[in-house]
Amino acid sequence: MSCRTVILISGSGSNLQAFIDTLHPQQADIVAVISNRADAYGLERAAQAGIPTQVLDHRDFPDRASYDLALAALIDAHTPELVILAGFMRILTAGFVARYHGRLLNIHPSLLPKYTGLHTHRRALEAGDQEHGATVHFVTEELDGGPAIMQSHVPILADDTPESLAERVRATEHRLYPLAAMLYISGRLRLMDGHACLDGNAIAPCGLRLDQFETDMRGHRND
Ligand code: GAR
Repeated sequence: MSCRTVILISGSGSNLQAFIDTLHPQQADIVAVISNRADAYGLERAAQAGIPTQVLDHRDFPDRASYDLALAALIDAHTPELVILAGFMRILTAGFVARYHGRLLNIHPSLLPKYTGLHTHRRALEAGDQEHGATVHFVTEELDGGPAIMQSHVPILADDTPESLAERVRATEHRLYPLAAMLYISGRLRLMDGHACLDGNAIAPCGLRLDQFETDMRGHRND
């Protein structure tokens, strides 16, 4: 049966587009896309794919708690099994996170635990890092701190700018996030006792490696 999925966005929605292009409707049914910004381009992407959209503007609420309660009510009306944060640029309350415990995924543009928060590409460049990337993780109360599921890695080049680096990392996100989501949808990935587990086994703290996982998948296909 198809996994009812709600996707939350704030902006361009290129990750949303990757889900639309990659996930088979028999596996994942994207039942709604919700944005906290009316001008998010991702809303157009969803509409073009025939997915219902809703806007809940955080500026219409006095505080974080009341916004998150209203957001949860919108989400719950769609009875999703999985909630995906795809560039949803809001800090979530503990109550919201607890409500979706074990079925709330996020993508963050850094090799967590490095560079939680904003400006991750610039910070990786300023630190002189050799590589950078993105992490898909289960969301817990700790900002960008929940158990990692999978990471993509990109080398940092001598002439990289924050923009050029962001572009290359973003391209990997579009492979990384649908793949990680599919592991959840197929039932192989679960949050158990605070650990991200694949087939019942705890994943290493920094998550699976996307490149390694893709190589293994190709190997299995050729078996
Ligand atoms: C992505 O790069 C994602 O990693 C980042 O926002 C971008 C959204 O792009 N998320 C965060 O920074 C969350 N802390 P998109 O709207 O084109 O998918």
